[in-house]
Amino acid sequence: MGGMGGSAISGDVVRDVFNGVDFSIETIREYDLPRYARPEDTLFVAISYSGNTEETLSIFDQALERGLNIISITSGGRLAEISRQKGLPLITIPSGYPPRGALGWLFGALVMVLERAGLLEGVADSLHKTARFLKDIAGELEGEDTISIDFANKFYRRLPIIYVPSDMMSVALRWQAQINENAKQLAHINVLPEMNHNEINGIKHPADIVERSWVVFLKDRDTHPRILKRIEITRQIIEEDVLGADEVESRGESRMERIFYLIWLGDFVSYYLAVYNGEDPIAIPRISHLKDALKREG
Ligand code: F6R
Repeated sequence: MGGMGGSAISGDVVRDVFNGVDFSIETIREYDLPRYARPEDTLFVAISYSGNTEETLSIFDQALERGLNIISITSGGRLAEISRQKGLPLITIPSGYPPRGALGWLFGALVMVLERAGLLEGVADSLHKTARFLKDIAGELEGEDTISIDFANKFYRRLPIIYVPSDMMSVALRWQAQINENAKQLAHINVLPEMNHNEINGIKHPADIVERSWVVFLKDRDTHPRILKRIEITRQIIEEDVLGADEVESRGESRMERIFYLIWLGDFVSYYLAVYNGEDPIAIPRISHLKDALKREG
């Protein structure tokens, strides 16, 4: 998969939801296609909500040159145009959302592609069940006296730190990106067990920042038992240095539901944090400014 930002994350989520499959799902956030991508064993999915992201168009061009099997997912733009011109498979999704607000569309399209390619099974049913589950649970995440508001309060004027087991990296990335883009706030993320081998030592300085950090460990009922133990001990070790630390376990039946529960929680937290910060959660002026400047300068 080649993509950036709110489009690319859909590939990471697919990788984490289907973490037991016997093929690798990789998201390339880059201008260049890796040398090892070969036509014999690669299905390349170009994914750009706008269809105009320059890194994605560059890697898409290279995939074309290298003769890979290509499918594009987009709401329009150059990606749709070129795919049509070349008669390549193209999935168009509705336009008008911020890319990060189209995660459901992008994820759904991507998993359907993998099912059609014979790599996954029973996907439509899982998608329907997950959509129903999220609808049912929305009331618990939205509004007063919710866990979302609780975390927005804990993160307000502080540094949010989110730790996840490595097989849920997409969830941490999504929390970080949503806090960055919606709330215009910094957030730090890392994975266990790796952070136990380095970062745990660094949660001391700069003391004024560490003292104003709020840590959340996200976990799942299938998280490796040794990682659960590591979370427990890590929390005890760092608790006196940081302002606070919490653990949140995913909810839902299937892994898809559980991953999306945590993603949705982060989405709501970032929305309430945007409100507290007095920021418009939809606007992304700096990203637009940068893209415009790059376009102007050629
Ligand atoms: C998310 C967002 C960005 C874009 C990224 C790539 O809402 O605005 O992270 O997703 O700049 O653009 P697209 O997704 O159009 O390829």
